Amino acid sequence: MLNLDFHPTGRHFLQIPGPSPVPDRLLRAMSLPTIDHRGPEFGALGLEVLQGIKKIFKTEQPVVIFPATGTGAWEAALSNTLSPGDHVLMYETGHFATLWNKMAIRLGLVPEFLAYQDADEHIPNAPSWRRGVQADLIEARLRKDVEKKIRAVCVVHNETSTGVTSDIAAVRKAIDAAGHPALLLVDTISGLACVDYRHDQWGVDVTISGSQKGLMLPPGISFNAVSPRALEAAKTAKLPRSFFAWDEIIEMNANGYWPYTPNTNLLYALSEAIDMLLGEGLDRVFARHLRWAAGVRAAVDAWGLPIQCADASVYSPVLTGVIMPTGVDADAVRRLIYERFDLSLGAGLGKLKGRMFRMGHLGDSNDLTLLAMVSGVEMGLKLAGVKLAKSGIQGSMDYFAGNPAAKISTAG
Ligand SMILES: Cc1ncc(COP(=O)(O)O)c(C=O)c1O
Repeated sequence: MLNLDFHPTGRHFLQIPGPSPVPDRLLRAMSLPTIDHRGPEFGALGLEVLQGIKKIFKTEQPVVIFPATGTGAWEAALSNTLSPGDHVLMYETGHFATLWNKMAIRLGLVPEFLAYQDADEHIPNAPSWRRGVQADLIEARLRKDVEKKIRAVCVVHNETSTGVTSDIAAVRKAIDAAGHPALLLVDTISGLACVDYRHDQWGVDVTISGSQKGLMLPPGISFNAVSPRALEAAKTAKLPRSFFAWDEIIEMNANGYWPYTPNTNLLYALSEAIDMLLGEGLDRVFARHLRWAAGVRAAVDAWGLPIQCADASVYSPVLTGVIMPTGVDADAVRRLIYERFDLSLGAGLGKLKGRMFRMGHLGDSNDLTLLAMVSGVEMGLKLAGVKLAKSGIQGSMDYFAGNPAAKISTAG
């Protein structure tokens, strides 16, 4: 029986930065009967999603779909392109970059972890988790690598643990400026379909993403968009791989199938999500997230609380990290908000645990659901005794009312 303590009336406010709220249209698509994954109907679905997803990554190259979470797609990117003992240059933007770095070590790679150190007033003596990738640091490091030992540069496009984005085109330019042959591997697990992303144009070799953020699906499938150079590297890469090996999957994908049982019902939802996103137009999708983020930040600014991202030019359109005053346990505030208002916020991760919380503005949301989140957070902060400069709700309302969203034409 449903435990009503966990399921009060109305909809739960799932405002974590993924899994994001799933549109009813996708839930309905997933409720269709499961079909034979070797039958003709599945082949047609497979071809459709494999073609459609390329438009979301802005690529003409293969996009491999795994029945795995984003972590699996990280492993796939590394294990298909690299060999034991290979040097890789990774960049410490936050907790997820740190986890990817740990994975590289476990796989037998030799990662170097670049970080930008600045005098950080909130988290002393730590590499900043408050800024995006500084491409000039990557360029300088690659220039020093005269023997060209570094085989790949790995960066996170939208660091979900902090709410900071990074300029991937600038990283590509830095690699080229250094005249370095390293592959470029990019995690846009929480950026894809929220923030502008261009796999081909930015010269990315492997783009990693997942289903449960901008694509608005539940967790369970993930992606590698793969460049011709990455495919070439896979021919000689020696890290062990089987489930994640691109070659067999790409071969069977030619007819819309997989070497194993794919996630049939999630692929129904993926097909629907691609239609929704392309129907809206990707530029509109990106503008929508930018607008949502600005509306939510208007409240945080009014509260007078610092935002985890210290550089306004790289604020994430996907989530906003809010730093708590010293002495306030952000996890206790989140728990209170969950218990009182049925609203889930993202926790501070890694070294930010208890120091901040994350407000997600992605998935099946709108101005009023975001205002509900802002209200729940404001009530919770006040109940927790956090001193606020002023009410933030008015700031958000003014922003949303004063900046109407672009309309989708339904004429004709
Ligand atoms: C940027 C980023 N990378 C990697 C991951 C790990 O993905 P998953 O939890 O789907 O395995 C996440 C999950 O939130 C993420 O946000």
